[in-house]
Amino acid sequence: MSSAYGPGKAILFGEHAVVYGRPAIAVPIGKVRACATVNPGTPGAGLVMSALDLGRIYGLADASVDDSLRAITLNTLAFLGIRLPLDLVVEVTSTIPVACGLGSGTAVSTAIVRALAAHFGVTLPNTAVSSLVYEVEKIHHGRPSGIDNTVVTYEQPVYFVKGQPIETLRVAKPFQLVIGDTGVCSPTRVAVNDVCLAWQCDPAGYEGLFDKIGAVADQARRAIESGAVDLLGGWMDENHCLLQHLDVSSPELDRLVWAAKQAGAAGAKLSGAGRGGNMIALATADSTAAVESALWAAGARGVIVTEVR
Ligand code: MEV
Repeated sequence: MSSAYGPGKAILFGEHAVVYGRPAIAVPIGKVRACATVNPGTPGAGLVMSALDLGRIYGLADASVDDSLRAITLNTLAFLGIRLPLDLVVEVTSTIPVACGLGSGTAVSTAIVRALAAHFGVTLPNTAVSSLVYEVEKIHHGRPSGIDNTVVTYEQPVYFVKGQPIETLRVAKPFQLVIGDTGVCSPTRVAVNDVCLAWQCDPAGYEGLFDKIGAVADQARRAIESGAVDLLGGWMDENHCLLQHLDVSSPELDRLVWAAKQAGAAGAKLSGAGRGGNMIALATADSTAAVESALWAAGARGVIVTEVR
């Protein structure tokens, strides 16, 4: 038996604009994770996927070509040079809510790649894991920037610019995030496509918004690396406002952001593709409990408190 996991993730700054070449910052969220376990299967049964959380057990031979679990399994086996037919059971479980901006699909793919590699006695470098996961992200995301697979596979805070070498971030002073889930499922592909359509209608306006978001990500990077955590809240507020202009916020997200701020958060914003999913708030040791309660009171369906370090 071989097992591996992939952590959740949160985008701190720069979502959407990162698809258009601007910088973004993301961190792994280790409190939620996906796990994959690979076991030898019944002789002749072929490759079997057991996605227990989704209540699905199925043969990969019967799965459609756009099934991402099938794609990541077959691509990884091909990459490892493993020939089919093969009798294996790949079991997947996850504590990351689906389609809510915390990278559940990315974490599942990462866990499967690593568990399969471990099963065949191979340790893959992060670059290989990340590119295998990226190829499968394309099935569901349309035009992913690559930030999600990067932060999840490297499992470190990253400053990411599409097409440029990966830069991990040094967090000079740890800070607390309170993550609130609206409970509204929001597929990344839909929000990313809508932004693309709006950009095509008004390229100059949208390029201007992306520039401003990129500048916020750069300022935030300096604050994170110099330990000026007190500056981050303002940048989060500014980034949320720019994301509202991109039309990717929602009444539920705005309500949680407002509640967090009223309860003393230094800043708050949606995180990920938006339209639903999760928001993040920057809290201190003094304000964390109040922010957490305020999010529950404002209708959050889940709250995670985590430290970024
Ligand atoms: C999704 O986690 C982040 C987006 O910027 C899409 C991407 O970067 O691929 C919305």
